[in-house]
Amino acid sequence: MNCEKRIALTGFMGVGKSSVARHLSYLLRCQKIDLDTLIEVSEHRRIAEIINADGEAVFRRIETENLKRALNKTDVRILSLGGGTWTMAENRDLIREHGMTSVWLESNFNHCWNNIRFSRKERPLARNKSSARKLFDARQELYCLADWHFIVKPDLTSFDIARQIAEEVFS
Ligand code: S3P
Repeated sequence: MNCEKRIALTGFMGVGKSSVARHLSYLLRCQKIDLDTLIEVSEHRRIAEIINADGEAVFRRIETENLKRALNKTDVRILSLGGGTWTMAENRDLIREHGMTSVWLESNFNHCWNNIRFSRKERPLARNKSSARKLFDARQELYCLADWHFIVKPDLTSFDIARQIAEEVFS
């Protein structure tokens, strides 16, 4: 296993980035950071509170600041991004400049939407199916820019995906 490599996991809300990152960190014995968690700890507020109170633009600024902090933690090899992080050109540049390999967890909309609907995590940018669908469609071409694409099929567990990534990206 090549544990020198650092990867950033991207993909739409509900695709399972955080769970895959957790399994990868276990499989590779590497440190991971969940960007949303880092933001919540540093801001002392939930992501939804930030977006609801201050708007998406303020959230994106905070997100980029925390992305920089995460990228500068050189002992962290696995970074789980928020669903919108990779869609910002500045963030993509930062991720590349820090030598991180980007991995897109690709899935169909219904799979993501079902996870969003039944999750306890509040997602202000996916309040209803039609707005989430529009965002999903608009983002596909940006997620496509990631270095690696892994298709998340409904019969695969997040552990299966993590194992695939470990074998293919870190081999
Ligand atoms: C967002 C995704 C969320 C969170 C915020 C915005 C997005 O993270 O960062 O609500 O713009 O797609 P998850 O992808 O983990 O749900």
